[in-house]
Amino acid sequence: MTITIYSSSSLLLRTAASSVRPISIHAAAAALYGRPAAGPQIRAFGIKTTLKAQEYMAKIIKADKSAAASKEAEFKGPKPQIDSYLNEMPPELRSPLFPEPMRAETMDRKWKSSDLEELDIGITKHRVPNRFSDKVALWAVKSARKPTDLLFRNKYLHRSVMLEVVAAVPGMVGALIRHIRSLQGMRHDGGWIGHLLHEAENERMHLMTWMEVGKPVMWERALIATVQTGFFAIFSLLYMVSPRTAHRVVGYLEEEAVTSYTHFIREIDAGRIENVKAPEIAVAYWNLDPESATLRDVVLAVRADEALHRDSNHHFSDRILAGRESLFEDMDHDESKPRVRY
Ligand SMILES: [Fe+2]
Ligand SMILES: [Fe+2]
Repeated sequence: MTITIYSSSSLLLRTAASSVRPISIHAAAAALYGRPAAGPQIRAFGIKTTLKAQEYMAKIIKADKSAAASKEAEFKGPKPQIDSYLNEMPPELRSPLFPEPMRAETMDRKWKSSDLEELDIGITKHRVPNRFSDKVALWAVKSARKPTDLLFRNKYLHRSVMLEVVAAVPGMVGALIRHIRSLQGMRHDGGWIGHLLHEAENERMHLMTWMEVGKPVMWERALIATVQTGFFAIFSLLYMVSPRTAHRVVGYLEEEAVTSYTHFIREIDAGRIENVKAPEIAVAYWNLDPESATLRDVVLAVRADEALHRDSNHHFSDRILAGRESLFEDMDHDESKPRVRY
């Protein structure tokens, strides 16, 4: 009986020559030993083979190796020698990939305060927790808010930095885990990954904006980084165990974010926080009117993003609960493009 396997030692050369083909256990034995065995029989993978068979296969492999080497040389030509890639910047990296805003409509025209005020975002919207896991998710978010209130009180800029450092984690964790699951399961993701990455990028832009406006002191930075590290670990575990609850947690976190930014606006309106000029990064990202944009406009724009995160994360959680995870059936399709799943 002949057992068919692939020869491990010649696999690379065979791949280079695009000619991988099965060989017998005798070839594997010859490849492993690389020379005639001392005795009449050798053992490979626990199976005996004869000296004659080994010599025969060694000849085939030798011929195979030289054929593959000549094909490789013919295909590749001389190898360009590069000492450093520092000055070899690929042209693709020269085109800036500036993050896209969360709300596509903000790109249509320059947004003014009145446009931002008119956005219907549902400031007081709340998803009623009707399952035990939802109640736990809401309790966890409400509990996490208490020490934040205690530490930062009315320092809304610093509170916002803390909020955004944490809020930028879930989208990236969710996208990473779904990406790996899609690879391991060799199946479509359902169209979530891009949206989750977009959310993470949007939250990071919130953080970059607040870092331009308020500068947290050293102890605040240390505290925020510690909280974020802990949150990253806990949230990753939660997402692996129950993505439905993880998205529910984010939904409630975003409800709190909307509330927090509403208080921020009240503080500005009351004159307790100076309504300074909007930073350049915010004007560019949200396409604000550069002449009139202020901090208040930025807070309005950020709050509108948080409302979208709230709605999409509660929606994700409810989709998992309903067993309708894939977004494809409900997607708006551009008829000029083919409908594909990914
Ligand atoms: Fe945010
Ligand atoms: Fe958010």
